[in-house]
Amino acid sequence: MITYPQQRTCPYHPSPGYGELRDGTPLRKVQLVNGQEAWVVSGHEQARALLADPRVSADRTNTGFPMIVPAGVAAIQTAPNRPFLVRDDPEHNRFRRMLISEFTVRRLRQLRPEIDRIVHDRIDAMLAAGPPADLVTAFSLPVPSLVICRMLGVPYADHEFFEKATSGILRGRTPQESTKAGADLLEYLTALAADPPPGLIARLKRERVGTGQMSLDELAFTALLLLGAGHETTASMITLSVIALLEHPEQLAAFRTGHDAVPASVEELLRYLTIVESILRVAVGDIEIAGEVIKAGEGIVIATGVVNRAEDAFDEPDRFDLGRSAVHHVAFGYGVHQCLGQNLARTELQVALPALFDRVPGLRLAAPVGELELRPIMTIQGVNALPVTW
Ligand code: HEM
Repeated sequence: MITYPQQRTCPYHPSPGYGELRDGTPLRKVQLVNGQEAWVVSGHEQARALLADPRVSADRTNTGFPMIVPAGVAAIQTAPNRPFLVRDDPEHNRFRRMLISEFTVRRLRQLRPEIDRIVHDRIDAMLAAGPPADLVTAFSLPVPSLVICRMLGVPYADHEFFEKATSGILRGRTPQESTKAGADLLEYLTALAADPPPGLIARLKRERVGTGQMSLDELAFTALLLLGAGHETTASMITLSVIALLEHPEQLAAFRTGHDAVPASVEELLRYLTIVESILRVAVGDIEIAGEVIKAGEGIVIATGVVNRAEDAFDEPDRFDLGRSAVHHVAFGYGVHQCLGQNLARTELQVALPALFDRVPGLRLAAPVGELELRPIMTIQGVNALPVTW
């Protein structure tokens, strides 16, 4: 029986050990790394059906939940006031409804000039200081960190603290270090929420905590989710997109000239790179699907990295092809928990990538891809540093 998950060996391909998961069988029972058995779903249609099924729960406190996440993540995800990402409706929807207007296409259109300014400022700074540069610290990480700070009203001056804490939660060397990083970040956000600078946290405090719709603790957990999800993910997507484009010169050439096609190119990058490789759930009722029965209490792992390479959903799925339509990918998940920040992430990528390749035409990797240190598998996929020159 195959074990799941398995480490990537290339920053932009699912693990070669997933061969069996790609034989056309849409779901099967596997042994997880923690010894638990769970269903791993690799079929595109079945993944979407399960993610939209109310008998499938995202609540980590349910019996049988496949908890294969780092200890700091587990501590946050099982706390009494845990973020809505890991709650079910109607509780989940109570929070999501309060936030949705902040992430609409219209709202992001208003924010775009600010994102544009942030991106160009970072490129100016990188060009002034280099070459060479570590793209992660010079560009990929500061861009989304500055944007989410601006939205939430978190002082960017504290970025080293919250970036380190987020990284500690996801990649702490020990379970204690990971749990402590989570507790530190929560403490920081609780203190910030007591007297928040202008921004979304202040607005939620006034309009939701002040009216009794949300407690202060819930506000701190919500801020933690938005801050954490808002910078690590997009940062990884920028970095891996740069690697994939530099490694596929013919695609990069098309990307440079096809500015009208940038939105479609970003969808292909999201599919091809799938930085969130697994979405975890548990069945809370028996579910008949693809000739199998998933019983209540059985864990479900949607292997998005494999689903986004499914042959019945994407033609020649291992081919990186900016010209294809990849809009039905599941890189942002699917169903009620589908990424709340997807319009923000798309805007950031659509602004950052063309600007970078336009303004640094000679950009190239300063280390072979094979030598890059890949992040551990059950966190957001990426690399710790990306040496570049131009
Ligand atoms: C949920 C991916 C950027 C906020 C999700 C989920 C995925 C995902 C796969 C679903 C998880 C699940 O169903 O269990 C990504 C990727 C991003 C990205 C690939 C970057 C390219 C962002 C950004 C924000 C954000 C910039 C900004 C705040 C959230 C939130 C949820 C979520 C709040 C929970 C939604 C809910 O439970 O209703 N994201 N995300 N994400 N994401 Fe993102």
